[in-house]
Order: sequence, then C-alpha cells, then structure tokens
Amino acid sequence: MLKVAVIGLNHIGLLHCRVYTDHPDVELVAVCDLRAELARSAAVRFGARAYDNVLSMLAEEEIDIISVATGGLENGSHHMEPAMQAIEAGKSVLVEKPISNRLQEARMMVDAAAARGVRLASNLNHRFVPAAKRAKEWIQNGEIGHLLYINMKLTIGNPNESTPWIHLRALHPHSFDVLRYFGGDVARVQSFMTKAPGRTVWSTASINIEFASGAVGHLTGSYDMHGGHPIERCEAGGTGGKFVLDNVYESLTLYPSSSDEQRVVKNSIFASPSGFDSTFYNRIGAFIQEVKNNVPPNEISASGADALAVQRIIEAAILSQTENGAPVRISDIQDQ
Ligand SMILES: NC(=O)c1ccc[n+]([C@@H]2O[C@H](COP(=O)([O-])OP(=O)(O)OC[C@H]3O[C@@H](n4cnc5c(N)ncnc54)[C@H](O)[C@@H]3O)[C@@H](O)[C@H]2O)c1
Repeated sequence: MLKVAVIGLNHIGLLHCRVYTDHPDVELVAVCDLRAELARSAAVRFGARAYDNVLSMLAEEEIDIISVATGGLENGSHHMEPAMQAIEAGKSVLVEKPISNRLQEARMMVDAAAARGVRLASNLNHRFVPAAKRAKEWIQNGEIGHLLYINMKLTIGNPNESTPWIHLRALHPHSFDVLRYFGGDVARVQSFMTKAPGRTVWSTASINIEFASGAVGHLTGSYDMHGGHPIERCEAGGTGGKFVLDNVYESLTLYPSSSDEQRVVKNSIFASPSGFDSTFYNRIGAFIQEVKNNVPPNEISASGADALAVQRIIEAAILSQTENGAPVRISDIQDQ
C-alpha cells in the first residue's frame, strides 16, 4: 500500500484527497495546509493526520506520493516551495497546473527532480480520458494519415482580474498539453488577444501554432464564456481523415476520408465517477500506477518536463501578444 499526502487543502486539494481515499492501492496518511483549520477538517474527513507545516510532515511521516495542490498568483506561485521540499525528501510528486507561473521556478523543479532522481508529474488531467487515449491511438495507427492540423478550443467563464496574463498562465496549460499530446512539440506561436468589455485582463485569445513536425494548429481560449456549455473541443485532421474530441471526455468521432461512415466513441454515462471529476480520478490513478510500476522518472506521463514545455509555449504566446502578433520561436524563450 503506497502512502500518500496532500499539500494545499482547499477546493482542488480536497478533490485529490477524495481520489486517493477512493483508490484501493494507496492510503492517505497525512494532509497539510498553512491554514491549520483546513488541515484539521480534512484530517477528520479523510482519516489522515493534520499538519500546517510541510517540513514537519516530511520529518514525521513515511510518504511515497505527495500531491501539491497549492495555488497563489496565477494559480501557480505557491507550488514551488512545497514541491521542492517534497522533491528533496525523495518523494514522487504530483503538482497542480500551472507547475509554476514563472518559468524559472518550473525549470528549478524539473532540474531538482532530475538531480534527485524522483518522479515529478503535473495534473494535466484533460488528456487523461479514454477518448483522448483512443484519439492518440488513431493518430499512431495512421487512421487520419499524415497529421496536418489540430484546432483546439478551451473556453470557460472566470472573472479573475488578478494579472494581465491570468487567463493564459492559469487555464492554458491544459490546452497546450492536449495539443502537444496529439501533435508533439510546438515550434512557433503567434497570438492575438482581446479584453471583454469591462475587463482589464487579456481574457480571450486566438493563437496560431506551428508544430515541430510541420503540422499547424490553433487555440481559441477564453475566460469570458459563462454558462454550462461544453468547454472544450479538439479537431485534428490529416491526409486520411479527421477526428473531433468533444468536451474533454464526452464524445470522440472519427471521419475517415475514405468513407462516409463515422466511428463514434462515447464516454459511458454509467462510468463511475463521471463528469469532470473523472479526469482527476484517471490522472491521479495513472500516476499511482506509474509509481507502483516503478516507471523511471524520465518516462512518466504528463511529467514536470511536459508541464515546463507548456509554460514555455504560454510565455511565447504572451511575448507574441506584446510584440503585435509577431511569430515567436519556442526555442527563443529563456527559462527565467
Ligand atoms: N487540474 C485542474 O483541472 C484544476 C482545476 C482547478 C484548479 N486547479 C489548480 O489547483 C490548484 C489549487 O486550486 P485551489 O482553488 O484549491 O487553490 P486555493 O488557493 O483555494 O487553495 C490552496 C491552498 O493551499 C494552501 N497553501 C499554500 N501554500 C502552502 C504551503 N506552502 N503549505 C501548505 N499549504 C499551502 C493555502 O493555504 C490554500 O488553502 C491551483 O494550482 C489551480 O490552478 C486545477
């Protein structure tokens, strides 16, 4: 039985706790939040020991896996300190997204994990759905032929006005991770962004993408789409056909060029747990399995290095916006 701890116990940390508690192969032994009352109530709810200090927890508990579900500026500035402490203690670490809102910090975590030889992963959960796995198999099996384009949309309603780039840095680790999952590394981006009336942040963005493979792509992103409508759509096309992945996990359709028949994969409504929480169950479950299987740190899925790669793309998109939409090479982005 692997022993687990969760750091940061507000909205998302509590969901991590629930996922670990429901998992048959792990035991949630400790929970930690700077706000002691949050730690106490999570400890009671999940039957774990409470801490308000990461180093005390690391000193007193035997732990294999640590989730870091802290937040901070642009939802990522508080991750580094507890993540580094967990890495230095030799744990397998799963950090929420963005791995950090600052590239330099993301790079330090990735380097520290590599130097210490520990697994560092990020909760890039949107790719951890059966439909995305199937779509990736279709690409690998040649079902859509030579990949030509991937068009992605991720739009939610979020009134956060904290910094000009909150929408890019906090939301689009997911989008660029899905784009990289299907299309590989990104070579160049070019952005145009706008602000919804009354907003001070770049709340809607249109970003062109050139993959290293030569394929092209696009991301439409927004913090201005309120209401319960589908949030995400991804269409990938090639010389042999195209697929459309709807709303993260809901449905996947293959449109082969050679036939009028479509192939449709639906996420079963009987699947449990269902809905968006299932992405957390799948993603955290995959990390647990990789730790159980002793997968080497450089082979784990949605790794810290992947999370760093998406933050680089985001910084390139931000730079493009500040340079009147000029194309920016990812290789020109410095991790500082
Ligand atoms: N993967 C997803 O789909 C998804 C969805 C929403 C949010 N998130 C991410 O989850 C993270 C957490 O979101 P939230 O809304 O729960 O954040 P939050 O700010 O509401 O809560 C973070 C908690 O961490 C605690 N904390 C901060 N630094 C700490 C430290 N050093 N030691 C112990 N506790 C510490 C804070 O006291 C707070 O209670 C964010 O990074 C966010 O981007 C991910």
